[in-house]
Amino acid sequence: MKAIRKAVFPVAGLGTRFLPATKANPKEMLPIVDKPLIQFAAEEAVAAGIDVLVFIIGRNKNSIPDHFDKAFELETKLEEAEKQEMLDIVRNILPPHVDCIYIRQAEALGLGHAVLCAQPVVGDEPFAVLLADDLIDAGERTCLNQMVDVHNHHHCSVLGIERVPHETVNRYGIIDSTVMSERVSKVKAIVEKPPVDKAPSNLAVVGRYILTPRIFKLLEQTERGAGNEIQLTDAIAKLLKEETVIGYEFEGKRFDCGGKLGYLHATVEFGLKHPELKKDFEDYLRTLVKAMH
Ligand code: G1P
Repeated sequence: MKAIRKAVFPVAGLGTRFLPATKANPKEMLPIVDKPLIQFAAEEAVAAGIDVLVFIIGRNKNSIPDHFDKAFELETKLEEAEKQEMLDIVRNILPPHVDCIYIRQAEALGLGHAVLCAQPVVGDEPFAVLLADDLIDAGERTCLNQMVDVHNHHHCSVLGIERVPHETVNRYGIIDSTVMSERVSKVKAIVEKPPVDKAPSNLAVVGRYILTPRIFKLLEQTERGAGNEIQLTDAIAKLLKEETVIGYEFEGKRFDCGGKLGYLHATVEFGLKHPELKKDFEDYLRTLVKAMH
């Protein structure tokens, strides 16, 4: 079994829930304090041993390649001003051994279609998919790190899963499964955004996947599903009839930054941990809460 070396980042969505902020900018470039969501996801992938990052981009996505590219003008200015600390931040967005590849998805035909666009680069090896709007804070052992370990042990596809409140199951891919060991389940069925009364469980797939390359053949055969889009979930439903697919309940805290409330939660919690801000921000929040009572 080959090691997981490549990660796919579908970033061609329209980000309508954040309009007008996302009118000209991808939602993945929204910052949590001072770091864009896509950089958190890229760092998580690199920490899990991945050295090829494949971005599936759409319209208005130039800022993502720009973000990971060298910024000559900015670097020159910072050099002249002898701002070494800032220069380091700008230069060390990604370690030098990591390659970024950009593939343009001409039409936003859904997550499944976005993943299929990565096939020419991924080829015949297992790979990761990260949805940057699911920000997962898991400390040293990142969510993808944990999933790579599960993959290396079981040699199959692994889906990041989390129990969600029943009334929210219609926002996720939901699995039916049997427990194999602590945090690890065998997926028996998966359905995209089921109505609350039809969901097989409240175990939701989050934006972290490790998939075998078989998924590409199945995606090619997948018709448009929920929301008239080609759904990754529908291809995974076919995959689990042919191969073992594992659901892994990761350790860590997920912030749904695809929505405004989750985004605010992340901003507050990362603000409270930010080395430069934590003290002042905590003082501010305390004063604010006191004034509310
Ligand atoms: C996508 C997937 C869904 C998954 C979710 C996780 O939905 O289609 O199965 O549960 O990501 O964030 P989206 O959030 O793009 O609507």
